[in-house]
Amino acid sequence: MAKEIKTIGVLTSGGDAPGMNAAIRAVVRKAIGNGVNVKGIKKGYQGLLNEEIVDMEARSVSDTIQRGGTILGTARCHEFRTEEGQAKGAEICHKHGIDGLVVIGGDGSYRGAQALSRHGINTIGIPGTIDLDIACTEYTIGFDTAVNTAMNAIDKVRDTSSSHERCSIIEVMGRNAGYIALWCGVANGAEDILLPEKYDYNEQEIINNIIRNRKKGKTHHIIVNAEGIGHSTSMARRIEAATGVETRATILGYMQRGGSPTCKDRFYASIMGAYAADILCQGKTNRVVGYQHGQFLDFDIEEALAMKKDLNNYQFDVSKVLSL
Ligand code: ADP
Ligand code: F6P
Repeated sequence: MAKEIKTIGVLTSGGDAPGMNAAIRAVVRKAIGNGVNVKGIKKGYQGLLNEEIVDMEARSVSDTIQRGGTILGTARCHEFRTEEGQAKGAEICHKHGIDGLVVIGGDGSYRGAQALSRHGINTIGIPGTIDLDIACTEYTIGFDTAVNTAMNAIDKVRDTSSSHERCSIIEVMGRNAGYIALWCGVANGAEDILLPEKYDYNEQEIINNIIRNRKKGKTHHIIVNAEGIGHSTSMARRIEAATGVETRATILGYMQRGGSPTCKDRFYASIMGAYAADILCQGKTNRVVGYQHGQFLDFDIEEALAMKKDLNNYQFDVSKVLSL
């Protein structure tokens, strides 16, 4: 029989993402609506181990849906990767009467949730990362805001790049995943898109492309480079030397993780937060919420972590043709 849930906790973990506040707000208000108490755990698993735990009321999340970042704070916590840290975390949950926990974060955070579930704390994960790199879901909280932020910034660089007839290398986030780079590359009409999953480090091909485009009369050359490839400044120097085209690098960096969430991020995060609160209140555990083919659904964490996600080859091929 499913255990009765009287109090749940909610935390955000790993890199922050715009829309996390909408998810927290939905967890708090849906659980309260279900007659369950809610506690907020600050600064991810580190805050759990430090017992930074506060009571949450419906009003605790007022005026937060439009705010970037996470009102609970977030952290990366090495201690929680250890068996002792996880046992201590579960003990602290028991001490505070927390029967279930919603964890908003990425794959790493799900592993922490899985560990707590092994220690008897019911857990539900919600995908929160700007990188879109969680296999069981087509949507992750923050991606939509991040790509719109990056796209608007790249438009601005493109203006000055055209005026000066320059080549611009613009580095976007994504250490292991190229989704932000691919989406912006297409949306900004980039001439080259360098993705960690695809790039073969053949710089000569980029150089040839720049020279070819100059001959065709293109006044700028935009290269969207993913953080996982990096080295944009030295790449710019080499490209300028080889092509004779003035080349500049712009690293967009953490601005992509901040800012007011888009409507999509507020809406999807709200539905996912409510969904997580509902299944947790029903006694489900060791699950993660996802979005696939127009439906919100949930998966076993183990299964979700075993799934693989690959960049779509067709989309990548199209991205190269559209900048001809
Ligand atoms: P994300 O959740 O965005 O993937 P991280 O990989 O940094 O980000 O993970 C966030 C936190 O989750 C880590 O700092 C750590 O506290 C916890 N975590 C990560 N991996 C594990 C693991 N294998 N077991 C337990 N906890 C983990
Ligand atoms: O949240 C995802 C992400 O922004 C990645 O794209 C990036 O590589 C990483 O986080 C950077 O994280 P940190 O805050 O540890 O520098």
